[in-house]
Amino acid sequence: MHQHLLIEPKYDIVSLQSAFLRSKPMQVRKTLGQFFTGSIVSDYMASLVSKPKCKAARILDAGAGTGILTASTALQCLDFGCKTVHAVLYELDSEAVPSLEQTLKIVKNTFSQQRGTFSFEIRCEDFVLNRPDKDKNIQDFDVSVINPPYFKYSVKDSPYAKAAADLYRGDPNIYASFMAVVMACMKEDGQMVTITPRSFTNGLYFKGFRSYLLTQSALDLIHIFKHRDKVFKNDDSAVLQENIICRFIKGKNQEAVTVCSSDCDASINNTDKEQYPLELIIDSSNDQRIIRIPESGYDANILRQAETFPTTFEGAGYFISTGRVVEYRTRKYITEGTKAPKSVPLYRPHNVTPLKATWTGDHKKEVSFMLNDGHEKHTMENGTFVLLKRFSSKDEKRRLVSGVHLESAHDCEFIGFGNKINYIGVTGGKLTKTEAYGLAAVFNSSFMDKYFRCISGNTQVNATEIRVMKFPTCEQVKEIGKQAQKLKTIETNEIDLIVNPVLGVMDNI
Ligand SMILES: C[S@@+](CC[C@H](N)C(=O)[O-])C[C@H]1O[C@@H](n2cnc3c(N)ncnc32)[C@H](O)[C@@H]1O
Repeated sequence: MHQHLLIEPKYDIVSLQSAFLRSKPMQVRKTLGQFFTGSIVSDYMASLVSKPKCKAARILDAGAGTGILTASTALQCLDFGCKTVHAVLYELDSEAVPSLEQTLKIVKNTFSQQRGTFSFEIRCEDFVLNRPDKDKNIQDFDVSVINPPYFKYSVKDSPYAKAAADLYRGDPNIYASFMAVVMACMKEDGQMVTITPRSFTNGLYFKGFRSYLLTQSALDLIHIFKHRDKVFKNDDSAVLQENIICRFIKGKNQEAVTVCSSDCDASINNTDKEQYPLELIIDSSNDQRIIRIPESGYDANILRQAETFPTTFEGAGYFISTGRVVEYRTRKYITEGTKAPKSVPLYRPHNVTPLKATWTGDHKKEVSFMLNDGHEKHTMENGTFVLLKRFSSKDEKRRLVSGVHLESAHDCEFIGFGNKINYIGVTGGKLTKTEAYGLAAVFNSSFMDKYFRCISGNTQVNATEIRVMKFPTCEQVKEIGKQAQKLKTIETNEIDLIVNPVLGVMDNI
């Protein structure tokens, strides 16, 4: 149990942080991504660092805030008997610098009391725009424990766009630039521990970033929080992003990965810990290198069973696309009345329920798409498709909700699918009713839902992830469909009773 910041004189470090946070309006903090790390999480992150090999350790902090992470890390090094530590800290906000300096002086005193030496340099500048690896060619850090800011930026106008283009392709989020540049500043065997949103572990935007990171280093530990709202206690707004802690070792060959999980930050030292083979965590069957995170041994068994499936969604002959209608761009075609002449149903997420997609025109949320000039860019030829919601709401238990849209449901040549739903069909062919029910049942099964949760931490269901998911063959899908069509209820356990035996997966693992 690591308690550095919980004992004297580290109370002062925590007080400095709290005082700074109180002094700053939430709105200003948000623009700088100032969500600070609490002391328990900070100490835990530092405890993940192992003893640096050299006698004098060099620490890099990028987006240091009031310095809590460097304090925990330096004191952890001191605990290891590493008596000489030098820290370089980047912080853009000059108002944070006085508190940062005070924190570091407290650390310096603690070192002096134990006949150690702690020195530091604060660089009040932009870490990404003044990259130490580029400008100063620095690649000599042993340890970096960071909580980088996170926000998306405009690829067109932001100075951050392409700032790390020599390291990886894509501009997903500022936190990725921080992680990539920190990694570039590390020595061989250097350790980087990060707390960030989970979004980089999947998703197309982060593909180039994942590839860079996993080539440069080994991801050997992941810590996840089972409840997403409790990690940043200084934050007044709910943190909807799921956050994870990761440890990367530069230049090391990727081997087994340890996955730890705790309920929230207060119970962080009370973790469940499991070690998994690399192949289970990092999917090497395609070029996306999705990082899959089983929350428990039970989830790991789900993943293992999914790995035995004979094919992938795409390999089984299916396609998935996002609905074409972007409502805010096509207002002039959309009518709330359902009886407008020359109009067709426009499917929105509420029309999609387990197994069935229904549009009656009676519901107040139901709208039609008028077939005015140019509609073909937005509508599609009516046909049988499986619709899969792209977003699940916070209170929804399931991530994957899909229903069958039958061509015969509406007597029209065209149909509208909104961009908050995905539509699924057979590549180069037509989906039969049986196969459609089979697909919908597979997506609505508990097994697929749990498997998907290992792949994706957010509530969004992206087509790119579905395409590479391991999947039953189309024969199995048809077999499931034959039975699913006859279902009178849409209870998940009824669906599971059909899906599990065909897939050969066990219900209670
Ligand atoms: C998420 S906070 C974390 C602060 C501190 N490391 C902690 O864990 O409590 C990120 C910090 O990065 C700073 N920051 C934001 N953009 C920056 C940039 N481009 N360069 C350097 N620091 C930046 C913010 O002011 C903020 O203090």
